[in-house]
Amino acid sequence: MQAKNDLLLRAASGQLVERPPVWLMRQAGRILPEYRALRASVSGFLELVRTPELVCEVTLQPVDVLDVDAAIIFSDILVIPEAMGLPYSMVESVGPRFADPVRTAADVARLRIAHPEDLAYVTEGIRLTRQALNDRVPLIGFAGAPWTLMAYMVEGGGSKTFSHARRMLYMAPELSAVLLDKITDGTIAYIQAQVKAGAQLIQLFDSWAGVLSPSQYREFALPRLQRLCQAVPEVPVTVFAKDAWFALEDLAQLDCAVIGLDWQQEASVVRDRIGNKVFQGNLDPCLLYADPAEIAAQTRRMLDSFGNPHIANLGHGVYPDTPLDGVRAFVDAVKAYRY
Ligand code: CP3
Repeated sequence: MQAKNDLLLRAASGQLVERPPVWLMRQAGRILPEYRALRASVSGFLELVRTPELVCEVTLQPVDVLDVDAAIIFSDILVIPEAMGLPYSMVESVGPRFADPVRTAADVARLRIAHPEDLAYVTEGIRLTRQALNDRVPLIGFAGAPWTLMAYMVEGGGSKTFSHARRMLYMAPELSAVLLDKITDGTIAYIQAQVKAGAQLIQLFDSWAGVLSPSQYREFALPRLQRLCQAVPEVPVTVFAKDAWFALEDLAQLDCAVIGLDWQQEASVVRDRIGNKVFQGNLDPCLLYADPAEIAAQTRRMLDSFGNPHIANLGHGVYPDTPLDGVRAFVDAVKAYRY
């Protein structure tokens, strides 16, 4: 019988802990040979995402292999657009593609509000995973932030500039608001269903926060993030708004316990600007290609700079070709650390 490890939940609620909890964004996935083998045995990524037993298996892999302090449910942020009636495909070494991007008022009108029943494969995956974990480590649920989902839905896939989506904010602000509200309404019901199924913390990924101007972020993104934060008062919420350094004070006003930081932010600077949140992050994922001694030294420096409590993580998802030895050097350095 394994001891219950609730370090993540204690740190997220602001309690002082003996050492920081550690997990990695994108810890379940291509860095693990076990994941690659399982994915090769089925039709692909989407089949894994849609099969609760496989969701559970993949979610547990990094807990077993890397001994991290949290599991994050294996899924994708794009399940919400799909449940709204916008199917996507995952193109190898390209990324997600929507064949019919949202560009017109008629496109927006056609979209449904996602219903938790459409996403029962995720909540069933959460239930199975909680059973299998038996409180070994906490289970994180997640969703995409409304702006980031709109960005993919309007653009049709990844982009450097998301200029179609940003253009819509300028040229059709009212239509953009309708789209964002449809996304938000479905996502609220979805994260509430995740918590009911057993998710113990919810992380919101605003991966494309950094392409918006500060005033656009304030007008279009933040009010909807706040609605999401307030929808799940039972659990701590982490808001990871990548490249949103310009909006830190606004993010600090959200009803979330934890702010995720990318690697371009410094703990001392951020702390001067925000006093009321626990931070998560923020090692450069590229550091994990370095030699283990260098990884350990830089990890300790980062932990010193954040202080107690803090949730150790990377500043973005782990890159798929990262050597496992580098990942282990990071995890082990955090686990050997004491405040
Ligand atoms: O963190 C985890 O381990 C949980 C699983 C998870 C995935 N996607 C699985 C995945 C999570 C939390 C996500 C979130 C996600 N998905 C985000 C936000 C985080 C971020 O990276 O900014 C975004 C923007 C997406 C959309 C998405 N999904 C993209 C852009 C891609 C392609 C890039 C890539 O890595 O191939 C995906 C695919 C994806 N999502 C994979 C995994 C494991 C790779 C699919 C595969 O080839 O097996």
